[in-house]
Amino acid sequence: MTIDEMSIKLAWISDLHLDHLEKKDPDALVRLGAALESEGAAHILLGGDIADSRCFETGLEHFLDVTRCLIYFVLGNHDYYFGSIVDVRRRAAALSLPGLQWLPKTGVVELNSDTALIGHGGCGDAHRGDMENFILLTDYAAIKELAATINHEDFWINGFRERSALINKLRQMGEEASQNLKNNLEKAADRYKRILILTHVTPFVETCTYRDSPGTDRGFPGFLWDSMGIKLKSFAAEHPDTEFMVLSGHTHEDSYARVASNIRAWSSPAEYGELRYRIVESSGWTVGPSILV
Ligand SMILES: [Fe+2]
Ligand SMILES: [Fe+2]
Repeated sequence: MTIDEMSIKLAWISDLHLDHLEKKDPDALVRLGAALESEGAAHILLGGDIADSRCFETGLEHFLDVTRCLIYFVLGNHDYYFGSIVDVRRRAAALSLPGLQWLPKTGVVELNSDTALIGHGGCGDAHRGDMENFILLTDYAAIKELAATINHEDFWINGFRERSALINKLRQMGEEASQNLKNNLEKAADRYKRILILTHVTPFVETCTYRDSPGTDRGFPGFLWDSMGIKLKSFAAEHPDTEFMVLSGHTHEDSYARVASNIRAWSSPAEYGELRYRIVESSGWTVGPSILV
């Protein structure tokens, strides 16, 4: 048996929210280390909302110490809280901890001879849904670039009627993130038959659910990375012999959909202060149930 024929197990963890976890259950990471060792997980996929901008590096260091696996990660909206997107991404790109890889910088990772891993956190890109009455997220006040687009009196007192600058910014961010991921998608599709894509925000309306029901027009602007979903569906249609698997979080909801004949997508459940993982196995690239540590 060659190494390519051996099963690879990845542990996928989304919405870790370490800042909440360390207050509520400080021993959870140690239990996770033991659980992943007994599972035989080779690598960890960390799908964003790791902590916030004040503590994501120390959180990642601690996580690395405990799990002793190679970690591939993307950033979520909470990772930018109390800071700026530009600064947090600069710091993520500058991290030089052995065993830690930020996927937008790393590019295409070979998992075995026919499977590649790529990723980007993406964002809720205000590309689909009700642009006048979408659900307001703390993001819009707690992240520097987004807070700069809002009139705070209007936001906090008047019911946020002047949304156009925020919408433009979210769309621009969504498009930039889509271009980064699309570039890596093209590189990966040249060489690999299967592409595993790690995101924070789901690109697909099918897995952008709320309480086991389909998502709503009020929810899509903040919870769906629609510009990426459109690109991915069109790319997959042009590459019918390639299989795409998309792993996302952000909604904290458990959801699965076969989005196209060659695209499968999962969203993972999460709760603040809880630690959950799912095993992704290379034999057929299946995704196991969410396991509470
Ligand atoms: Fe989250
Ligand atoms: Fe999130």
